[in-house]
Amino acid sequence: MNRFGAVLAAIACLGFIPSLSAQDNLSLTPPMGWNSWNHFAEHVDDKVIRDAADAMVSSGLKDAGYVYINIGDTWQGQRDAHGAIQPNSRFPDMKALADYVHSKGLRLGIYSSPGHKTCAGYEGSIGHEEQDAQTYANWGIDYLKYDWCQSSGTLEQMKIGYTKMQQAIKKTGRPIVFSLCEYGWNKVWEWGPSVGGNLWRTTGDISDEYRVMAEIGFNQNGLEKFAGPGHWNDPDMLEVGNGGMTEDEYRTHFSLWSMLAAPLIAGNDLSKMTPYTLEMLTNREVIAVDQDPSGKQGYRIAQEGPFEVWMKPMADGSLVVGLFNRQRTTEKMTVNFSQIGLQGEVSVRDLWLKKDLGSFRDSYSANVPRHGVVLVRIKKK
Ligand code: GLA
Repeated sequence: MNRFGAVLAAIACLGFIPSLSAQDNLSLTPPMGWNSWNHFAEHVDDKVIRDAADAMVSSGLKDAGYVYINIGDTWQGQRDAHGAIQPNSRFPDMKALADYVHSKGLRLGIYSSPGHKTCAGYEGSIGHEEQDAQTYANWGIDYLKYDWCQSSGTLEQMKIGYTKMQQAIKKTGRPIVFSLCEYGWNKVWEWGPSVGGNLWRTTGDISDEYRVMAEIGFNQNGLEKFAGPGHWNDPDMLEVGNGGMTEDEYRTHFSLWSMLAAPLIAGNDLSKMTPYTLEMLTNREVIAVDQDPSGKQGYRIAQEGPFEVWMKPMADGSLVVGLFNRQRTTEKMTVNFSQIGLQGEVSVRDLWLKKDLGSFRDSYSANVPRHGVVLVRIKKK
């Protein structure tokens, strides 16, 4: 530790360093859960949410760390005579639904917008921020995705809209994760924390296609300095298990999101998972990459056309390296240890094979399938 570090440590011992804010404490590691939108879109109802909660527990996803069950857009009904938002007929009793989700040891999330309408044209929260936040708190909501959608205005107005909701949430006294969604239009990563965001979308919408997923995921490079405990870049929810990509492509998706310390919000039908999907979503060694307490987001260290090598430093001093092949044929790829600052002998473990590969010097090479990845954790011996 240098002198500055020693002074900081001493001050911290005396309790003078302000702790993370209560809002930060809500997401010390990237949030993990599920959201109805990617699979069910507007066909979401009380039963879909209860089924997802049941499946999250019975499948083992909860044990692997997933906790939020998030209702996406289209749950809203009209406002009553006092302006209080009502759910529509697909959600007969939100409080009972929250109680049910909580009884499973899970948390419930909801969705709204800072404008008059949500993306799907349902009732937004503008002018009703305090009322809506209090309604959510009364129901027992634990997570709010606040989606810009059909709102309009300058960047300053956007910040005001998000701040209003953050203050309204704070006033309720209930801890509610605040998820901003403005698609990265206005460099939200630079100001997201100042409006209380625990996470913020950095991109447009994902879809269940390799091309779209890869473009979003690999374009996150450069945003790593904006992520950390309590505040995360969000390259959108997962598509793993929705059927539009090959197993190797989904493995790329899950590996990349984990290296990015991205929120792991599953978007498939949890009640109908193939063994392969379940195994992927619950791979604890890959999840540990995402959930590493240091909260460092990975970044690209080398690129040669469609071949990309990414690295994520871990709290224990090990390094996770992803060899990503974006080409259409299997290709041999190599990481030179000098590229990741290591010299001498290192041990290498494959996180998808869950296997120690032994000791290596200078470099590690592997055949990487089309659109696939080899993900390894490297430790100095
Ligand atoms: C936007 C968001 C999506 C989803 C839909 C719902 O498109 O980016 O993630 O929430 O709205 O309408």
